[in-house]
Amino acid sequence: MTIHNETLAVIGSPSTNDEMTLDILERAKDARLVGSLVRFTTLQDGQELCVTGQITSLSMFNKWHQNDVMRNIIKSNGSVPHLSGSQDVRSATLSPGAVFGRADKNSDWGFRVLGNLPPTGTAVERLQQSMLEELVHSQKDNLFYVGRAYGDGNVRLPMYFKHFGDPKTGGQGEAYHTLIAGKTGSGKSTVAKMALLCHARHADEAILIVDPKGEFADEISNYQVGSSGLQFANILKGLNRKVQRYGITQVRLEGYELFEDILLSLGIDAALNIRGADNKIEMATAFSEIIREADSGLTLDTLRGRAAFTHILEKLGADYATRIYKGKEGQDALQAEIERILDNQKHRAWSAWEFVAFLFSKDGNRQTIGSIVHHLMASDSGNRPLVVLDLSVSGNRRDLFDLGDQFKELREADEERDLFTDSLQKKIIYRIVSSMRRLCETIVSERVRNGDKRNVNTLVLFEEAHRFAPKSIAADDEDGKKLKAKLVEAVRETRKYGLGWAFIDQTIGGLDKEIIQQIRCFYIGYGLSMGEELQAVREIVGGDQGDVALYRSFKDPASYGSVEEKMYPWMAFGPISPMSANHPLFFNAFGAEDFVKFNNMPVDMSNRQFKRPTMAMRKSKSTGNVQTLTMNDLANGFLDD
Ligand SMILES: Nc1ncnc2c1ncn2[C@@H]1O[C@H](COP(=O)(O)OP(=O)(O)O)[C@@H](O)[C@H]1O
Ligand SMILES: [Mg+2]
Repeated sequence: MTIHNETLAVIGSPSTNDEMTLDILERAKDARLVGSLVRFTTLQDGQELCVTGQITSLSMFNKWHQNDVMRNIIKSNGSVPHLSGSQDVRSATLSPGAVFGRADKNSDWGFRVLGNLPPTGTAVERLQQSMLEELVHSQKDNLFYVGRAYGDGNVRLPMYFKHFGDPKTGGQGEAYHTLIAGKTGSGKSTVAKMALLCHARHADEAILIVDPKGEFADEISNYQVGSSGLQFANILKGLNRKVQRYGITQVRLEGYELFEDILLSLGIDAALNIRGADNKIEMATAFSEIIREADSGLTLDTLRGRAAFTHILEKLGADYATRIYKGKEGQDALQAEIERILDNQKHRAWSAWEFVAFLFSKDGNRQTIGSIVHHLMASDSGNRPLVVLDLSVSGNRRDLFDLGDQFKELREADEERDLFTDSLQKKIIYRIVSSMRRLCETIVSERVRNGDKRNVNTLVLFEEAHRFAPKSIAADDEDGKKLKAKLVEAVRETRKYGLGWAFIDQTIGGLDKEIIQQIRCFYIGYGLSMGEELQAVREIVGGDQGDVALYRSFKDPASYGSVEEKMYPWMAFGPISPMSANHPLFFNAFGAEDFVKFNNMPVDMSNRQFKRPTMAMRKSKSTGNVQTLTMNDLANGFLDD
């Protein structure tokens, strides 16, 4: 064999095609090896093969230190002259990753499968960036870079973020689902933003972000969240993406079920002083029934104005009080509350009602959720939109302020309760998921009838998935069960229509198992190294001890002394890179500057200057890394046109 300058080790024994022992050369004994990318070349069927892989663990053996007599000497001397140190045998475990082959020196490398074993003594070298680029050259138009090899800061890992459309244009041909998981602060949102920007490069791919925390909505409005410095909005602008944010007040809501929920969210029950969960539901149902009565002259989208509310309250008192309360006392009390509201035009119930009616009314150009997702999925090739549905409390409060004085009393009266409750969020998400599930199929079948083979080529990014599809759910949580079942169904059924889901979550163990089974690409950041979470990680990456051990060695990004030193380590698994095969890849995520530089991301700075929101304009229940904006920020307009 020939030992090159770069040779670190040779293939040793025992080795299998899935796990190889490497004997480390003396010269490499103090090199950083764990997590490093290496390669060796071998012959298979007369062709040159180049096998790459990542070193997952190291071990060292010195038989003298295991000898009982020597151990006695060590006990007093601390070492054995001429044997300690010099007789150490170091070995490493190599998980072979991608295998490339070529017919001769002049042809491009292509993918191969390793079907034999290299002889012991085969030289193993560090994989250099130049060699890596030569290996993946045939794919180069479809590659992105989001980080450096975990053990080797000199090597950037090429990754795929393929769209779901035609393989001739670099697509996957069908959708695949992704999970980005890790503890809070591990860098999930940052990696998700980079992944989104890579996807945003594909002008033929539409993107929907379901944003319960409002973080992405803030970003596209140029309020940078977090300290990574990633110019999310300016890059999207540079990529010429059409970007649109919708808050709850910017969509037109539909359906009696949602209506009833919103009555309760907005405290109509409280205004009527109705006690008891069942009674509240009875009240909400009564509202729907009154509107539906043939002679009411009302529909869900024409409820604005005092006349409608007056009519409903009068009916409620006359016909429904006995259904809401069995006892006379309750009935009388309800009647008294109704009169109190009817007599006092300044009662907060009026403005709450006005707001409910507004959400369901047809005035303005507000679209329904169904029509927003239809437009998105059916949009024209080459210029497809990126839509953020902002379901956050903070974002939607801001929108309420934007609506001006018409709901002023409501805002002021509602100091300590959230208008935009958890259950409202879930109801809206249910609408989004069920519309997407249904419409992607409709769009594709219609296209098929017209001889058009395109799928919907749409990515949906979803934060906090476990809240909507938890592993276990309370038996009496009917809404929760319904939402989860719909999400599971969507994940199972939409792939073939080109609709792919990307979930971001701080747990894997807490997420529904069926969803995890449908996911192909995993990005796992720091912090899932205990108990149920670790078990889930193991199940995903397979049985290799070395892979799991390397993952567990990740250092908490929060534990560094200074910001400059911080590293954000990731383990990625699945068809995420030309370098991956049956083992995960380990990398440290790029900072914003490297991401822009190595992917040639266009940053359009003609936008507003970078702004940082300052103090909360009012008490907000939202927590986490989303910040509430000041009135001054608002004055600059929230929606980009
Ligand atoms: N690759 C990175 N480079 C630089 N800073 C990062 C990186 N990843 C995360 N950060 C920073 O660390 C903090 C937490 O990251 P974030 O993506 O919000 O984590 P998570 O979503 O997992 O809670 C943020 O301030 C973010 O800017
Ligand atoms: Mg986050």
